[in-house]
Amino acid sequence: MVTGEQFDEEEEVELSLRPQMLAQYIGQTTAKDNLAIFIEAAKLRNEPLDHVLLYGPPGLGKTTMASIIANEMNVEFRTTSGPAIERAGDLAAILSSLEVGDVLFIDEIHRLPRAVEEILYPAMEDFCLDIVIGTGSTARSVRLDLPPFTLIGATTRAGLLTAPLRDRFGVLSRLEYYEIEDLTEIVERTANIFDVSINQEAALEIARRSRGTPRIANRLLKRVRDISQVKGEYEISLETTQQALEMLQVDKTGLDHIDHKLLLSILDAFQGGPVGLDTLAATIGEESQTIEDVYEPFLLQKGFIQRTPRGRIATEKTYQHFNRALPKAKE
Ligand code: ADE
Repeated sequence: MVTGEQFDEEEEVELSLRPQMLAQYIGQTTAKDNLAIFIEAAKLRNEPLDHVLLYGPPGLGKTTMASIIANEMNVEFRTTSGPAIERAGDLAAILSSLEVGDVLFIDEIHRLPRAVEEILYPAMEDFCLDIVIGTGSTARSVRLDLPPFTLIGATTRAGLLTAPLRDRFGVLSRLEYYEIEDLTEIVERTANIFDVSINQEAALEIARRSRGTPRIANRLLKRVRDISQVKGEYEISLETTQQALEMLQVDKTGLDHIDHKLLLSILDAFQGGPVGLDTLAATIGEESQTIEDVYEPFLLQKGFIQRTPRGRIATEKTYQHFNRALPKAKE
C-alpha cells in the first residue's frame, strides 16, 4: 500500500475473495484473453508490461484485475488513488520509491489533480521525473531517472480522462457487466470460500439479481447466508434466497429501491421525462455523480432509461416494469 488508505469491512472481505491469478478470474473473457497475451509477451521480452487503463462501471473487478496483472508479472503491487494524491510531490515520492517492473495502480485516475497528472506524462513516457528545485529566479528543473514500471489506471469515467493521459496508455481494456452464468459461478466460488453450501437454483437467482456485478452478487450472498444460517438450513435454498432478496428490496431484475425511486420519479414527478440529471438527483436525494456512475450505466444498458439532449427519459420497458399504462402521446 502506498498511501495510508483504509479499507472498510466490506473491502476487507472483498480482498479475501479476490482471485489471485488470471486462471481463477471468472468472466471478462475479452479483457482476460488480451491481457494474457500482453503479459506473456512482456515476460518473454523481460520488459515491464505497457501501461494499462481499465475502465467500466464500479464493482466489475478493476482492482482485482490490476493485482492479478502484478501477480502474473511477478512484481510488487503498489496502490493509491486519484483523490489520495493531492500534490505533485506526493506522486513524485511514490514514483521515486518504485522498483524495476513494479505495478503502480491508481484507482479513480480521472480524479487526479491536473498538476499531479502532468508529473505522470514524462514518468509514463520516458520513465523520468521532472522536479523543480528552489523558487523564483533560482528555481531550476532537474530530471531524475525512474525504473521502468507499469502504471495501471482504473476509472469509471474514461470520458473524463484528458487526451494526453489517455494517449499514454498502451492497453485500454473495458470491463463489461458479467453474464448470468459467470456470476453464478462467482457466487458458487464465494460460497465455497465462506464454507457454505448453496443450491444451484439459489446461486442462479442471486446472479440474476446482481446487476451484472460481482461486488453486488457477493454482498447479496452474504445477506442470504445470514438468513439461511438463522433458519438452520444445511444448504442455502432457493426459497430463502427469494425471501432474503425481497427483504433487501431487490426486485426480479435486480433493481433496488434507489433504482425504483429514480425510475418512479421520472414516471411520476416528470411524466416520463425528459428530466436533467441534477434535477433528478435533487428530487430523489442522491448525488448526481452516484447516479451517473453507479445507477445509470445499468439502467441505460438494460433499456430502462434513455439519455437525450434534453435529459433522461423513461422507456416503454419502464412503464411495463411498473405495470403503468403508457401515456397517450408516447404510445
Ligand atoms: N470474485 C469477484 N469477482 C470475481 C471474478 N471475476 N472471478 C472470480 N472471483 C471473483
